[in-house]
Amino acid sequence: MTGTDTGTDTAMLRVAGLTKTYSLGTSWLSRLTSSGSGTLKALDGVDLDLRPGEVLALVGESGSGKSTLAKILVGSTPASSGVVEHRGEVAPARRDKESSRRVQMVFQDPYSSLNPRLTVGAMLAELLLLHRVVPRREVRAESVRLLNLVGMEEDVLGAYPSQFSGGQRQRLAIARALAVRPDVVIADEPVSALDVSVQATILELFAALRAELGLSILFIAHNLAVVQHLADRVAVMYLGRIVEVAPTAQLFAAPRHPYTRALIDSIPRMTEASVNDAFELDGEPPSPYDVPAGCRFHPRCPLASEICRTTDPPLLSVGPAHESACLKADELALIPLPETTQEHA
Ligand SMILES: Nc1ncnc2c1ncn2[C@@H]1O[C@H](COP(=O)(O)OP(=O)(O)O)[C@@H](O)[C@H]1O
Ligand code: SF4
Ligand SMILES: [Mg+2]
Repeated sequence: MTGTDTGTDTAMLRVAGLTKTYSLGTSWLSRLTSSGSGTLKALDGVDLDLRPGEVLALVGESGSGKSTLAKILVGSTPASSGVVEHRGEVAPARRDKESSRRVQMVFQDPYSSLNPRLTVGAMLAELLLLHRVVPRREVRAESVRLLNLVGMEEDVLGAYPSQFSGGQRQRLAIARALAVRPDVVIADEPVSALDVSVQATILELFAALRAELGLSILFIAHNLAVVQHLADRVAVMYLGRIVEVAPTAQLFAAPRHPYTRALIDSIPRMTEASVNDAFELDGEPPSPYDVPAGCRFHPRCPLASEICRTTDPPLLSVGPAHESACLKADELALIPLPETTQEHA
């Protein structure tokens, strides 16, 4: 279990022993593209908690299982095994209106959560009335309040989603998620599809919302640099497992898993001289159809040795609030980071 130092009853969301397996089809194509295990393990024993008022980043390459975890947390897909708790209570497999209200999702593509046929005003009014957030006579004022929260004005109430830019649509998707006053927002790569300059403004918005509303946010990204200035803690995912979790500054200053180290080293820096390619990641991660034996990172790990091919390392404490699933976490700590790691934006 990660982050157990804050007690067991305070987490907004907690998952324990979570797995998600997809069965392979029996078509010739799926047999051809798999190595025959019959199942794909998208999540393979995930323990994680989201604390009240924190931004927890979930980071990992494409295919590591981030969206699968997000979908299980909002109840849009069931787990194969394991437990999901919301504020200490086990979340029902089929979410009722109230339990689905409490955990809201913001997607990479805001279009997927915005009905193109509804104006902004109609979209917000529908939600506010359905969940009885405010009485009908207060719907307009509440809609304006929500728009202001995300940096927009009353004059957009009559507009349709297609009339906005990508960044503005993401603001609307955030307003939509906030309309039902959730405890938790899960943002699944909310800036990945945006221009870099727009990304920064949306990241600032998440930071402001956390500060103003005390929201708990699970912020998913495939790029560590995106979350460095937003997240309180970072959980790093690899092939369906959390392989490291730590407070953000600690993770960047002293990563204790070679995969995290590779992600940090891959962040573009100011000078070529600062690049250290010892931890450079080669190629794509192995397929979750066929997870490597032993440590799942061993085929790509520069520190791998014989024991790594046979021993599957559990996530263990390596310092205050810091956990790593690497047999050589102590050895890694002795390898200095490139000098400018702390300076990149
Ligand atoms: N509905 C599905 N059926 C079969 N495989 C799936 C399904 N959804 C996701 N997967 C597989 O599960 C793995 C994890 O996917 P995903 O959770 O989307 O990862 P991420 O969000 O980190 O990119 C991938 O190998 C993906 O192909
Ligand atoms: S256990 Fe071995 S292979 Fe796995 S990350 Fe650590 S050093 Fe690398
Ligand atoms: Mg995803």
